[in-house]
Amino acid sequence: MTTAVTVAWLSLPGDAEEVIAREGFVVTGAERTRADTYRRAVDRARSLLAAGLLRAVVAEHAGVRPAEVGVDRACHTCGRQHGRPVVALPALLPPHVSVTHSGSWVGVAVSPGGPVGLDVEVRAAAASAPLHTVAAESERPGLRAAEDPGEALARLWVAKEAALKAAGHGLAVAPAHVVLSSDGTRVRRWPLADDPERTVIHCVDPDATHAGAVCVLDGRGSTVHPVRWDQRR
Ligand SMILES: CC(C)(COP(=O)(O)OP(=O)(O)OC[C@H]1O[C@@H](n2cnc3c(N)ncnc32)[C@H](O)[C@@H]1OP(=O)(O)O)[C@@H](O)C(=O)NCCC(=O)NCCS
Repeated sequence: MTTAVTVAWLSLPGDAEEVIAREGFVVTGAERTRADTYRRAVDRARSLLAAGLLRAVVAEHAGVRPAEVGVDRACHTCGRQHGRPVVALPALLPPHVSVTHSGSWVGVAVSPGGPVGLDVEVRAAAASAPLHTVAAESERPGLRAAEDPGEALARLWVAKEAALKAAGHGLAVAPAHVVLSSDGTRVRRWPLADDPERTVIHCVDPDATHAGAVCVLDGRGSTVHPVRWDQRR
């Protein structure tokens, strides 16, 4: 049986509090304190909406109330609450989750199977990243020869970041140390203990100006179900 992964997208509004109220999002005091540490209003909004969306999507997936979804973001390196989110549910096996936000989008992936990683980037920014920071040496000739090298680079970026987030390392591992299959749907080599053959990478662009990818570490394979959270009713 394949893993059915939900990817929920929410477009960034002018007023985060209005969306929190409209969607019935639950955001804890600690999450509000954390969001307040961001200087820019857009970063505060992304942080608050990501926290609210995460709880809402997991609650719907599990059939519980959003307030019953616990979230621990303890960083593997320093223990502070800025690491990979791990959810807890009352008397239920929690799914794996991943959170991303960039440009106009906040996204949450929920996987009832293997660990999951989600990434979104503004396409134009990812397309102009320095090649050597994203591509392994063996990938560079193919990228330079691509019909649209910028688009190919943006795709490579989000695919690798999604895979590294699924493995729980994020950008603590340099994307240039990861090699993907030529079609970008698998990790072929990386400097991690997880078997790269278990990775499956899907393209999940939320719109034409943003590139998105989701990676599931699950040997059984996976299907992806994208949802526009703010348009689903
Ligand atoms: C996590 C990371 C990949 C984010 O990259 P980004 O493109 O700026 O941001 P994204 O929006 O795609 O992802 C942010 C989300 O990744 C998640 N995240 C954080 N650390 C993560 C990790 N190690 N693995 C998977 N996901 C992680 C969080 O949910 C975060 O959302 P939040 O800020 O709302 O809590 C990058 O910042 C990173 O690698 N950080 C870890 C580096 C590290 O370990 N540092 C040690 C610090 S003590």
